[in-house]
Amino acid sequence: MPNPIRAKISALGTFAPPRLLTNADLEKMVETSDKWIYERTGIRQRHIVDKGVAASHLAYEAATRALKERGMSGSELEAIFVATVTPDMFFPATACLVQDRLGAKGAWGYDISAACSGFVYALQTGAKFVESGAHKKVMVIGSDVMSSIIDYTDRATCVIFGDGAGAVLIEPTNDGNGFIDFLHEVDGSGGCSLNMPGGGSLNPATHETVDRKMHFVHQDGQAVFKYAVRKMAEASLALLARNGFTAKDISLFVPHQANKRIIVSSAERLGLRDDQVVINIDEYGNTTAGTIPLALDTARQQGRLKKGDLILLAAVGAGFTVGATLLRWAY
Ligand SMILES: CC(C)(COP(=O)(O)OP(=O)(O)OC[C@H]1O[C@@H](n2cnc3c(N)ncnc32)[C@H](O)[C@@H]1OP(=O)(O)O)[C@@H](O)C(=O)NCCC(=O)NCCS
Repeated sequence: MPNPIRAKISALGTFAPPRLLTNADLEKMVETSDKWIYERTGIRQRHIVDKGVAASHLAYEAATRALKERGMSGSELEAIFVATVTPDMFFPATACLVQDRLGAKGAWGYDISAACSGFVYALQTGAKFVESGAHKKVMVIGSDVMSSIIDYTDRATCVIFGDGAGAVLIEPTNDGNGFIDFLHEVDGSGGCSLNMPGGGSLNPATHETVDRKMHFVHQDGQAVFKYAVRKMAEASLALLARNGFTAKDISLFVPHQANKRIIVSSAERLGLRDDQVVINIDEYGNTTAGTIPLALDTARQQGRLKKGDLILLAAVGAGFTVGATLLRWAY
């Protein structure tokens, strides 16, 4: 029997703006220390955009790199999905801005808002359009400019986040590699633990919303931490079990990079060895929808991503949103 048509990742491109915000820089901005930040989060630096650079710009750079790797032009794309919580503006969608810049004439697309789970959610959206036979070339991008919604006087949030983007091309395959299964879940009761309350239809921008800092990220760090550790492991274990795998079978666990302690605790719950886990939060901080493709790229640069490898992606984010994806690396 021939293998069924699956979707696969056929190219990967990433982009982080060159300007760095180090722990030493933050020591001069808020009451904190390099020691506290590194011990509590695992972060040493973040990449931050210059004024005038937005999510669509990072997305375009990442997508261009993915297209170049595949030797393709933007005009061959059929759909573009962009995961972001920091779109250039409410509308038009970032996907439309990227479509225009890539010259992807005839392609369609939209933005996906699922915060730190955004990339894995967008990945499944892209994969399903390919598996259904509707499309053969889909670009999935995670891009966030978190520095645009961070209060740089709030030491509890400003040390965590950074800017960055990653893009993958999704195409059909029948060689047994590609996407295997996914497990997604939302728990909207967690919405109050991590949000940006201002600027939407509930609290449109006014002088008061600005004065009350409602256009910045607000979070209950400990509530998010506990939920993330529990759900990252639970979703991953359930996904592995229903596909007949155990943690031992995984070549690489590529988790959302929110806090090194969340990653390490999740990996312990899964029973993974250090060499199975990808961590690059020290270099980028939490780039929200950008972390997983950036981590895949780090693994690749370290020579840890090989064709046929069983890869487990997992994320937890604002919502709360939970997402886990199982795939075999296809090239
Ligand atoms: C935010 C986070 C790093 C805080 O770490 P924590 O160990 O939970 O710290 P707490 O919030 O309990 O604060 C402990 C103390 O450190 C202080 N603190 C907070 N940020 C600090 C900083 N940057 N530097 C120094 N001290 C800091 C707090 O004020 C508190 O002081 P107190 O005991 O005098 O009140 C951690 O909760 C976290 O990573 N949560 C998850 C956030 C996340 O992942 N968000 C994105 C979702 S995908």
